[in-house]
Amino acid sequence: MDKNRDELLKKIKDEILDLKESPLYEERINSKSFPVIGEGNHFAEIMLIGEAPGKNEAKTGRPFCGQSGKILDELLKGISMDRKDVYITNIVKDRPPSNRDPNSEEISIYSPFLDRQINIIQPKIIATLGRYSMKYILDKFWVESSSPISEVHGKIFEGEAEYGTIKIIPLYHPAVALYNRKNLNTMIDDFKILRKYRHI
Ligand code: URA
Repeated sequence: MDKNRDELLKKIKDEILDLKESPLYEERINSKSFPVIGEGNHFAEIMLIGEAPGKNEAKTGRPFCGQSGKILDELLKGISMDRKDVYITNIVKDRPPSNRDPNSEEISIYSPFLDRQINIIQPKIIATLGRYSMKYILDKFWVESSSPISEVHGKIFEGEAEYGTIKIIPLYHPAVALYNRKNLNTMIDDFKILRKYRHI
């Protein structure tokens, strides 16, 4: 599988580009936007999973390239990493109108693509950014947790992926740091946990 990672990821991109059955497809075409598939190292040990693209992301096709992205870059820099060390993606690959939260129909249409990305890249650590990716990943790997993100952020869970055991670390969404500086300090601490478990 290793030699084919680029090709397999490109196939996902092509399928999403043509995903006419998505309720977000028409809006993407009308607003001359792009889906956001993901970017970074196709051999990354760490995969970061956000929620859905915002306006800047949909305009450029790149994940986390607006205000939240600046925070994410700072947090990565704080643990001596940058975007090329990790793979960054979202559960929902097209922008929900007016930046509303993704709904369950959107999550079920786009999550099979995320599942494939996980199996292609085979990260040892999945760090979720925000409530929606946290819930999806904890459910997917049968990790018992109905606890709110305020209780589980920065904790380490284990899950069995098709390719081996993985660690799952729920993190707050970088946007929370935009509202309150105190949240940023919590995120800085949580990212230190990520650093402890990385092997690159
Ligand atoms: N918020 C997300 O969850 N993902 C992005 O790509 C940008 C903002």
